[in-house]
Amino acid sequence: MDYTGKIIAVGCDHGGYLLKLEVLKHLSERGIKYRDFGCDSLESVNYPTYAHEVCRAVQSGECVCGILLCGTGIGMSMAANKHRGIRAAVCADTFSARMTRAHNDCNVLCLGGRVTGFGLALDIVDAYLDTDFIGGRHAERIAMFEEFK
Ligand code: RB5
Repeated sequence: MDYTGKIIAVGCDHGGYLLKLEVLKHLSERGIKYRDFGCDSLESVNYPTYAHEVCRAVQSGECVCGILLCGTGIGMSMAANKHRGIRAAVCADTFSARMTRAHNDCNVLCLGGRVTGFGLALDIVDAYLDTDFIGGRHAERIAMFEEFK
């Protein structure tokens, strides 16, 4: 995808805060614009608050996709997947990151700040951002998710 003129929504809790700083730096280095929805420190916060803000920005079209970070990435993905039109996936490897874009049209990537090291996490972000949805039969399948929400 060409990210020119597009904005990525980013949010975290305290467990994902340090990794978020690395991700934001990486996005800047790639010349990709982002909107940071917080949190802004290591102080304990409730991750669903930030998942909701990021998902709303993706749902409204303000942001083309989102990246959410917590300790494991799991809580963020659970909260995000409650939102209509949101397809969130936790990834801890680059193959899953590519496949969740190509087959699931994942629009919110979730990362675990206490699981995945900085170097791998940034590779995962790149694999995610640089893969396109292939559509076809996969479009029919992801459309079925909405019937459950
Ligand atoms: C916070 O302690 C932790 O529960 C959170 O970051 C996340 O891992 C939840 O899934």
